[in-house]
Amino acid sequence: METNSISKWVLFFFIVIQLGFQYISCSVTYDGKAIVINGRRRILMSGSIHYPRSTPEMWEDIIMKAKEGGLDVIETYVFWNVHEPSPGIYNFEGRYDLVRFLKTVQKAGLYAHLRIGPYVCAEWNFGGFPVWLKYVPGISFRTDNEPFKRAMKVFTEKIVNLMKHENLFESQGGPIILSQIENEYGALDKKYGAPGYNYMTWAAEMAVGLRTGVPWIMCKQDDAPDPIINTCNGFYCDAFKPNKPYKPKIWTEAWTGWFSEFGGVVHKRPVEDLAYAVARFIQKGGSFVNYYMYHGGTNFGRSAGGPFITTSYDYDAPIDEYGLVRQPKYGHLTELHKAIKQCEPALVSGDPTVISLGTNQKAHIFHSKFGHCAAFLSNDDKANATRVLFNKMRHTLPPWSISILPDCRNIVFNTAKIGVQSTRMKMLPTHSVMFSWQMYNEDLTTRDEDSGFTTFGLLDQVNVTRDASDYLWYTTSVDIGSTESFLHGGEHPKLLVQSTGHALHVFINGELLGSASGTRESRRITYKEKIKLRSGINKIALLSVAMGLSNIGGHYESWETGVLGPVVLYGLDKGKQDLTHSKWSYQVGLKGEAKDVVSMNSMSSVEWVQGSLIAQKKQPLTWHKAYFNEPEGNEPLALDMQSMGKGQVWINGQSIGRYWTAYAAGDCQRCHYTGTYRPSKCQVGCGRPTQRWYHVPRSWLKLTGNLLVLFEEIGGDPTRISLVKRSMTSVCADMFEYHPKKKNWHYNSYGKTQIIRRPKVHLQCSPGFSITSIKFASFGTPLGTCGNFRQGTCHAPSSHDVLSKRCIGKEKCVVTISNNNFGQDPCPNTLKRLTVEAFCAPTSRV
Ligand code: GAL
Repeated sequence: METNSISKWVLFFFIVIQLGFQYISCSVTYDGKAIVINGRRRILMSGSIHYPRSTPEMWEDIIMKAKEGGLDVIETYVFWNVHEPSPGIYNFEGRYDLVRFLKTVQKAGLYAHLRIGPYVCAEWNFGGFPVWLKYVPGISFRTDNEPFKRAMKVFTEKIVNLMKHENLFESQGGPIILSQIENEYGALDKKYGAPGYNYMTWAAEMAVGLRTGVPWIMCKQDDAPDPIINTCNGFYCDAFKPNKPYKPKIWTEAWTGWFSEFGGVVHKRPVEDLAYAVARFIQKGGSFVNYYMYHGGTNFGRSAGGPFITTSYDYDAPIDEYGLVRQPKYGHLTELHKAIKQCEPALVSGDPTVISLGTNQKAHIFHSKFGHCAAFLSNDDKANATRVLFNKMRHTLPPWSISILPDCRNIVFNTAKIGVQSTRMKMLPTHSVMFSWQMYNEDLTTRDEDSGFTTFGLLDQVNVTRDASDYLWYTTSVDIGSTESFLHGGEHPKLLVQSTGHALHVFINGELLGSASGTRESRRITYKEKIKLRSGINKIALLSVAMGLSNIGGHYESWETGVLGPVVLYGLDKGKQDLTHSKWSYQVGLKGEAKDVVSMNSMSSVEWVQGSLIAQKKQPLTWHKAYFNEPEGNEPLALDMQSMGKGQVWINGQSIGRYWTAYAAGDCQRCHYTGTYRPSKCQVGCGRPTQRWYHVPRSWLKLTGNLLVLFEEIGGDPTRISLVKRSMTSVCADMFEYHPKKKNWHYNSYGKTQIIRRPKVHLQCSPGFSITSIKFASFGTPLGTCGNFRQGTCHAPSSHDVLSKRCIGKEKCVVTISNNNFGQDPCPNTLKRLTVEAFCAPTSRV
């Protein structure tokens, strides 16, 4: 009897331990409402921060800003081509130190979402695949192909094992709560038919078989098999439904802006619309939102995809390329996250009740069994504000907006009303840095026999370079007889060169004749120009330049690059001469690259000439170098490259990236936050270089003697290159008083006491900076936007004095918006605003 009861106890403990273990090893699960962490459904706000797009020295600061911005999760892709540059040779150092990045996320107390891919798209070179993968015998990317699947499995396992080894999955006490396999495969899957479907289900099974202890997702994959959660990417995702009722509604890419390509415009997405899209998703039962990008960063080196993706991957994200918060985007989303978090207990409790408040107005009301009530009041009208009655109270809803009421009574946030300050950032000169240039001309006369070869016909560029360099020389010669009539006053012949991209420079007998480039949509280049030839042997040298390998499209591994012909000379006495199948010499890369002129150690290998000794003319194919000391302060730095043409730039041997002063064509007229956002709306920079400034990470610099090297393809004026500091020069605030006819009641956390909250304007400069003057202040009905404010018909004359007294000399100041503060009501019965622009400068100069 006694032994029996002991064994029952042992059994009982065993079951308890088993259950406990199961619980621990299954700490992240999901249901139809949300991701469930340690038994709790969560509303999770997440943001994409790609580790190689900033430096390890920047990571902690960016991640902490994300945390302060109200994020719970940091999402990153894993970039196969940086981790495995050659088969079986791995690199997890420096910017590629994924473990350090995730441990920084963990240290900040945040979760992580690891999108392993390993296809990532992401405007990243070759969509994240290593170029060697293309040369694995018999390979075909992203389909039911054994060599591809084998390679994908080896890499995915490598990453999962690394994460397990470092205890990084939540099931092991780490930060990773979700992982992604593949990326937006749905459309291709349908196109590829059975092999596509087989590959997709194989990828799903392979991932699940890795037993990470946390859920897997597949984005834009409507038929993702259980237990994988299918998720949505887009500018809006409220209409999305997961493929099973027991899967939560997850938005993996809420696009905060858009990427740029050289020659294109810069895209901005108004934060009012982004906040509205997010609130719309949450009110329709969404429980996980990831901002793509929260910090976009920089495509350093040759990591930009393409072709033609810019070096900047700023993306108009809440944290800008340089790691500084972008206001009011960052602050407004922070307020949104606070409001959503206040609603969390009600949101996770079940589906909302929806009631109509008007033609385009609705209330989504969430209740919990513990008595929580949260409401989202939406106005989908693109043009008009509307007054609605909800819960016995009247509310004005601005157009295209959602108001959030965490207690079903008080609006704590409206997506269209920005209550936070905005800032103006400027690139200011660092007067201490003057460059003294030296030059070295890429020698065109000799070919390096070791790295070159000769063959008949035109070859695909990547097949020759294996992407070891952007540059490939195609060189041939033509023998022109002395009797050719163009040599005796006749019309000059024309040269036709057809290339599949991406850019092309044509040299005849060592002189640059002209250049051409394609676009991201159409990579095909047709170059046809008159050329000057002489009697005898003439050298035709075509420098083909890759500008980032394609990162998107079905079987892009088979897309060709470079001069594939035809190459034809027209207008000779015999008619035309087709050079396509002639003898061509190939030379991979530049002499300067082979001699490693960008690095500190090998500077003696070439003859540099003092810049001042060289006539200032447009000099193609030139290396320029200069030394400089690090500027004081801690503002982020950038190179102003506007005076240059096209090329690449390095600091202390590290590549900052490709530069190209290509002028943006587009329509920069239309921008309003209302109405469906598309990248064709809210474009900026028309008629200006798509990218003028190139980020120089501070951590790449030494105090003195930094080496700056650049390679210029076309010609430019390096004497006008300057190093600039990204600085906040002014802060703006623009806020309404509360409606005079409306009671502004606030229920405190006990739900009883009523207090009146007067809105306040907060102004804050960067740390170490103070307000030096008030550029503009108006309590009344001012007009314009930050940087261009002007007085309206109603204006309190004391506005400027009031703001000056409160703010000048301070890093931050707060001014309550009330008639009393401005002497008297400047226009009774009119809804007024307080609008301010204040200048900031380093505190020492105040
Ligand atoms: C998505 C893709 C991302 C990125 C984005 C555009 O379709 O999943 O990787 O390319 O588009 O920035």
